[in-house]
Amino acid sequence: MSVKGNDKKLAAEAATDYVKDGMTVGLGSGSTAEWMLKRLGALVKDGLNIKGIPTSVKTESLARKHGIPLTDFSKTATVDLAIDGADEIDGQLNLLKGGGGSLVREKIIDAAAEKLIIIADQSKMVQQLGSFPLPIEVVPFGWEMTKKQIAAYGAEPKLRKEENRVFVSDNGNYILDCSFGKMVNPESLHDTLKSMAGVVETGLFIGMTDQAMIGQNGKVEMIG
Ligand code: A5P
Repeated sequence: MSVKGNDKKLAAEAATDYVKDGMTVGLGSGSTAEWMLKRLGALVKDGLNIKGIPTSVKTESLARKHGIPLTDFSKTATVDLAIDGADEIDGQLNLLKGGGGSLVREKIIDAAAEKLIIIADQSKMVQQLGSFPLPIEVVPFGWEMTKKQIAAYGAEPKLRKEENRVFVSDNGNYILDCSFGKMVNPESLHDTLKSMAGVVETGLFIGMTDQAMIGQNGKVEMIG
């Protein structure tokens, strides 16, 4: 395993120490979250009694593979803890997310959680958000108009494609990856984008994170 892969694994495993019997746990998406699912699966096998709420169809199928019992918002109104990855994390623990295309379900579950722990390797830590293009989920109808509005706000939106086909999110929507450059005020940028017709959600997660577990050179630093 690469050093980076091992740092993701260590961060993910450290976060699972906060998962206790009886909890409903928000299950994040991405390669770091996959380590968390593997570890939680092993803990469940050893008797840990939890229920997971997955933030993507992929996470749902991985959770099933690892034997983690699942629930949903028709059965529970509480998420005790969510553990999720990120594409960028700033010094205030604001996040840029959605590289894997799961930002809407991630935001619903992470926002509902009593506590949100972010797991990542050191490469995700940044001074200012915005080097990574911001994923914005948009309704397919009239996406060209939504793209125009976003472009007028100073970005270069690119319709996400996968193997030459338009990428469709778990919610049936499109994703525009938008290069705004370094963000001076990510909160107001998010508010502006959210007010545009056709925008479902942005990958900016502002003021939501309680703690971050950051793996670096075989150690895990806890921030927050
Ligand atoms: C999914 O849409 C993203 O928000 C992920 O949480 C993020 O891309 C995680 O990245 P890693 O694959 O590096 O964990």
